Amino acid sequence: MGQNRSQESKMTSPVRVIVVGAGCRGAGYAQFATIHPKRMKVVAVADPRKFARTKLQKQHKIEDQNIFEDWQSIAELEKFADAVLICTPDRIHKDPAVAFAKKGYHILLEKPMATSAEECRAIVEACTQAGVMLSVGHVLRYDPLIHEIKVLIDAGAIGDVIHIQHLEPVGFYHFAHSFVRGNWRNEAESSFALLAKSCHDIDLIHHWAGARRCVKVSSFGSVSHFRKEKKPTGAGDRCIDCSVEGNCPYSACKIYLNSVKKGHTGWPVSVICPNSVPDIESVTEALKTGPYGRCVYDCDNDVCSNQVVNMEFEGGLTAAFTMVAFTEEICQRKTTIYGSRGELSYNGSEIRVFDFLTQRSTKHTASWEAAKHYGMSGHGGADYHLINTFISAVANNDPSMIRSGPEETLISHLLVFEAERSRVENRVVYCGDGARS
Ligand SMILES: NC(=O)c1ccc[n+]([C@@H]2O[C@H](COP(=O)([O-])OP(=O)(O)OC[C@H]3O[C@@H](n4cnc5c(N)ncnc54)[C@H](O)[C@@H]3O)[C@@H](O)[C@H]2O)c1
Repeated sequence: MGQNRSQESKMTSPVRVIVVGAGCRGAGYAQFATIHPKRMKVVAVADPRKFARTKLQKQHKIEDQNIFEDWQSIAELEKFADAVLICTPDRIHKDPAVAFAKKGYHILLEKPMATSAEECRAIVEACTQAGVMLSVGHVLRYDPLIHEIKVLIDAGAIGDVIHIQHLEPVGFYHFAHSFVRGNWRNEAESSFALLAKSCHDIDLIHHWAGARRCVKVSSFGSVSHFRKEKKPTGAGDRCIDCSVEGNCPYSACKIYLNSVKKGHTGWPVSVICPNSVPDIESVTEALKTGPYGRCVYDCDNDVCSNQVVNMEFEGGLTAAFTMVAFTEEICQRKTTIYGSRGELSYNGSEIRVFDFLTQRSTKHTASWEAAKHYGMSGHGGADYHLINTFISAVANNDPSMIRSGPEETLISHLLVFEAERSRVENRVVYCGDGARS
């Protein structure tokens, strides 16, 4: 719906946005201004990393006076833009979101909203009180094929939804990069894996369940394999001088150095050289001294590598979710939804619906043309659709275009906290029992 109306705009000038956190996500969304300069303009940036903010300044010709080292410096000023893209690390979401809402900025906030239920509620309350729009970075809601699943369910293609089975395969080297060596490895520094990685998936399950409320949840999970006791005999502390590196699928030399030698300088190589352009020299240095050169069996990681969540919704609808690190596929979700009239399966490239009455299957695909054409391919093009929708919503002053708005996102985040509570406390959690933090 939002995507069809996206070209229309009540505003005649571009939506002016401030990028807070010019890392992977912030710089990625900012690309939209290059593709559609008449619809969005980046007017300011805040980031403590000079390399990141200078890069964005050059790309978007931002005036010197609008370059800042932190978000607070902008929040102290009078409002001078329409919206802010908050793409800071997980633990720096709530304070800027509340501060910018109070200033009257519309907000695109990266997921997770925040790292506690209390903080998530504070963000929603601040946005509601200020009357500003909030769109959370649940990119999968904007993936055209995933969106089609909801359209089919709502059209009754499989009758009543009875059971949802959903798999998130993180990918073996992706997990090692982000959740063993990288920014999301340690709960105290970022957030637990179910929130950091799978809030998208719990959100989708909740979305597919429709108006039904989740009544109880249970979860198990553990930090498997990436543990000190699994370190092979003779392994070094860093892959670059490890004698058994050749036999290790998680070797940083394989993941980063071999990639840059082949000319790949995008993700994940770009992430490990935060203050320079990645090349063989800077990547080698990063492996010698930085966090990404560490042995995966000797890191300060504590987030789950595999976790399951079982949910029961009102009316007896059940859902089973699995997140697992040890996969060939990188984040390519697989879903089967069992209904009273048919079965729907999704494999990332198509949806197949088997109808019990006719005993026939139909296949459904979606067009990726927009995102391919514009070259903004993050999350298979869903990043493009998310920012496109947000900019349209702001330009048209129409929050109904946003698919990842405050209320639904808050409910699905609360469900994530409840699932994690079940895992940690080793018990079934009854949702909404007043212990939702
Ligand atoms: N929607 C998705 O699918 C998705 C995917 C990846 C990451 N994320 C989320 O997006 C957020 C950003 O992730 P990323 O991969 O871009 O990380 P990143 O580390 O590349 O970028 C974060 C940036 O914030 C900057 N920063 C830190 N403190 C700041 C401050 N006080 N003021 C302004 N900037 C500050 C950092 O210097 C860095 O450049 C995280 O919350 C992450 O969980 C979402």
